Formats: sequence, structure tokens, C-alpha cells
Amino acid sequence: MNGITFDYMEEYLRNLIPENQGLLGELEEYAKENRVPIAQKETINFLRTMIAIKKPKRVLELGTAIGYSAITIAQTFPCEVTTVERNPEMVELAKKYIEEAKLQDKIKVEVGDCMDILEKLQEPFDLIFMDAGKGHYNHFLPHCLRLLNRDGIIIADNVLFRGMVANDQLVSKRKITIVKRMRKYLDIVSKDPNLYTSVIPMGDGIAVTTRRE
Ligand SMILES: C[S@@+](CC[C@H](N)C(=O)[O-])C[C@H]1O[C@@H](n2cnc3c(N)ncnc32)[C@H](O)[C@@H]1O
Repeated sequence: MNGITFDYMEEYLRNLIPENQGLLGELEEYAKENRVPIAQKETINFLRTMIAIKKPKRVLELGTAIGYSAITIAQTFPCEVTTVERNPEMVELAKKYIEEAKLQDKIKVEVGDCMDILEKLQEPFDLIFMDAGKGHYNHFLPHCLRLLNRDGIIIADNVLFRGMVANDQLVSKRKITIVKRMRKYLDIVSKDPNLYTSVIPMGDGIAVTTRRE
């Protein structure tokens, strides 16, 4: 059990999604062998679907890791992706894989802490994928809303965090702060009268937020 959905359901849904071939398949293998946290299969499939629907010109991603989701985004629709990563080892690998995918003109890796980079960014984005610093989504949110186009979308991953966010009995002591902050994030985006938010119990929990007209 992943704490969010039933094993049989997760297995069934995962099996519906075609396997990635080529570089993306290689990246999945690398991530598995080296315990690099990348978006889950159903999450990446959902993100890909949203990109195909939205056809964004500019995408912001918080959390590059080895570039797996950034490459997926840029391969799904020819947009400009800005992705933020603070771990130099990850940055080096991500750049290498982005070059291998021949997407260096489309994907820009911003090196540093999300908060520092968010403070500096000015140009608007059509879609923002939050996938770094689970304990800080509520801090990133005001900047993300400032940077989001009028009809933009914020997709936040890991919002149910192994089910802990929805169930106190699953919360381990070490994760209490992250869980409390994630609940705060979900509370803000769900109750803000200017926003619509839908939380999807898929993968590690995904929240999709957009502005009301
Ligand atoms: C879950 S991984 C991102 C996975 C990636 N989006 C994918 O699916 O391929 C999160 C990454 O964010 C980075 N990270 C965590 N907190 C950060 C922060 N505050 N600023 C910048 N990067 C951060 C970590 O080093 C890690 O590589």
C-alpha cells in the first residue's frame, strides 16, 4: 500500500501506461538504480496529458533531479522549460541528459534554491510543476501565483505524501512538519475564493490549481 490508493488499483493503472523507450526509459532505470526520486509513472503520464491539453508556451518546474520530467514536458509539446535544482550533482546529470535529448535550447536549468530563484523570476508561465521542497509549497505559492499567467495551471506533486497528509495514523514523527505545511498548502489553495483546486489521489497525490474567472 502506498497509503493513498489500493495496490491492485495502482498496478492496474500503471499497466495501462505504455513503457517509455529510449532516453526516458534509461533515465527511469538510472533513477531506480541510484535511488533518485523522480515523478511516478502515473504522475508523469498525468503531467504529459495536461501539457498536451494546455499547450503551454512557458513552463516552470521546481525540482529538476536528473531532468526526467523536464525532458518529458519538452518532448510532449515544444515549449520553453525553466527548471530549478539546488543539488550540483543533479544539475550536472540533468544538463548531460538534456543535451543527449537535444533540448538544451528548450530547457534552462536554474541552479539554486527554489525560493531564491522564484524571487528573481519575472516572466510569466503557463504551467508550473511543483516537485521540490515538499515542506515549502506554501512558501513557494505566492511567487508561483505572481508568475502564473491569468489562465495558467499549477500542478503540485506529493501533496498527499504517502497518505500522511490525509491520515494522522500514518504520520511518522520526523515528517510532522512537512505534513503540517502540506496541509496548510492544500488548505490555502482549496479555500482561496480566487482559485479552483482539485486534489487527485494518484501517485503520491497531485493538486491542480487554476484561477477562477
Ligand atoms: C522529486 S525530485 C524532482 C524530480 C523531477 N521533477 C522528475 O520527476 O524528474 C526533487 C528535486 O528537488 C531538489 N530540491 C529539493 N528542495 C529544493 C529546493 N528548495 N530548491 C531547489 N531544489 C530543491 C532535490 O535536490 C531533488 O533533486
